[in-house]
Amino acid sequence: MWTKPTTPSDKTLVLLGEAPGEQEEKQNRPFVGPSGTLLRETIMTMAGLDMDEWHVTNVFSQRPPNNDLKAWTLNKTDHKKMGLIPRDSPLSKQYLLPQYWDQVEATEKLLSELQPSLIVCLGAKAQWLLTGDDRIGTFRGSFFQSRFGTAISTFHPAAILREYKMLPVAVMDLVKARHWLAGTL
Ligand code: URA
Repeated sequence: MWTKPTTPSDKTLVLLGEAPGEQEEKQNRPFVGPSGTLLRETIMTMAGLDMDEWHVTNVFSQRPPNNDLKAWTLNKTDHKKMGLIPRDSPLSKQYLLPQYWDQVEATEKLLSELQPSLIVCLGAKAQWLLTGDDRIGTFRGSFFQSRFGTAISTFHPAAILREYKMLPVAVMDLVKARHWLAGTL
């Protein structure tokens, strides 16, 4: 599930989320539900960014049951007992079950092909894909070099909907991204 920019930008820009929710699954488009509305109309707009200039995608292209990735993982001990090949998941104590690897690999392939100027990771799971580390509170707001190019992470819009005080922090992270893109940081 990936949307291309509809408004051209001189740079390739990527917004990376976690996985589709209910609305996204219905419409087969990322970030079209409540999180997407907050992202487009409030966070991006307040930061002076136009979401139409960004490629938008998720680590996972399918919606996990009850929006919970746990269903696609197994705790490391049980996973080993089953003799499965270990593969980290965004949940640090869990391995990702083999039948869900292809979703992550497709996103990695897309990011490799796009060679983005900047990736904005929305939340811990997106940050995990680029860094192997899901500690969003520790790393958000700082640029880092990933295997797919320069990136910055911020809070996921769904987390902001649950805890609104995170909103100005996310907006400022994206203001920083805008300045970096404009060469005015
Ligand atoms: N949350 C995400 O991480 N991605 C979406 O596309 C929608 C909600």
